[in-house]
Amino acid sequence: MSGADVPVLELERLSLAYGETVVVRDVSLKVRAGEVYAVMGPNGAGKTTLLNGIVGMASRVEGRIVFDGEPLERINPQRAAKRRIAYVPQGRQLFPYASGRMNLWSGGYGRRDRGRLEKDIDDFIAAWPVAARVAKRNAEVMSGGEQQVIAIGRGALSKPRLMLIDEPSLGLAPILVQEVFKLIADVASDASHAGAAVVLVEQNVEAALSVADHVCILSGGQVVHQGARGDLTAADIGDMYLH
Ligand SMILES: Nc1ncnc2c1ncn2[C@@H]1O[C@H](COP(=O)(O)OP(=O)(O)O)[C@@H](O)[C@H]1O
Ligand SMILES: [Mg+2]
Repeated sequence: MSGADVPVLELERLSLAYGETVVVRDVSLKVRAGEVYAVMGPNGAGKTTLLNGIVGMASRVEGRIVFDGEPLERINPQRAAKRRIAYVPQGRQLFPYASGRMNLWSGGYGRRDRGRLEKDIDDFIAAWPVAARVAKRNAEVMSGGEQQVIAIGRGALSKPRLMLIDEPSLGLAPILVQEVFKLIADVASDASHAGAAVVLVEQNVEAALSVADHVCILSGGQVVHQGARGDLTAADIGDMYLH
């Protein structure tokens, strides 16, 4: 079922609610392995809810979520993790009193090939100087950017098929924004396991466009634009935010 042409994730006319309140309506999109799908839009547009819905933290009122060619039913965050869906939440939510290395390790906890985990952590730390710098430091004393590298690394070490990332650039120094987006591109293209599909929620339009293959703009819970990265410039997208 999971041939190269089958999207890792397909949302078909998905509507999502918290209780009785519908906050996302009629969203359709497809992401394949190796691709980044950027979801942009103003505060309150429903971006986080869209990610929450994929892991069962917002309820599906209509539409389908298809993962690796099969409808994703009765999903919750724990089952999502078992299906190798990694969620990197807004604000990162690392274990504050655990080191960078320990936080990375926690991402690989559910892996079947746990024996390879220490080596994969070593490789990650060797590849990303920011991770090396904070490997022995507790998360609570890391900068926002350092935490973000560790949070995405934690997700990557679970060897995800699908990674959901919420507002990774929020509160980061510009130099680390670049590093974080290099890391996101690397997760999508990781040759060692055929790459992950990535859904990236991001309000930094230029940063998002630097890695995205496809974009959609949500406003008031609905898609107001959707297409390939080249369809719109950052300025066009900026204009849409204002309307
Ligand atoms: N847990 C929740 N319960 C009820 N309503 C929520 C909850 N979280 C968010 N909302 C509402 O859903 C809408 C979309 O929020 P959200 O998905 O967080 O937007 P965004 O991530 O684009 O800023 C907002 O109107 C927000 O107030
Ligand atoms: Mg949000």
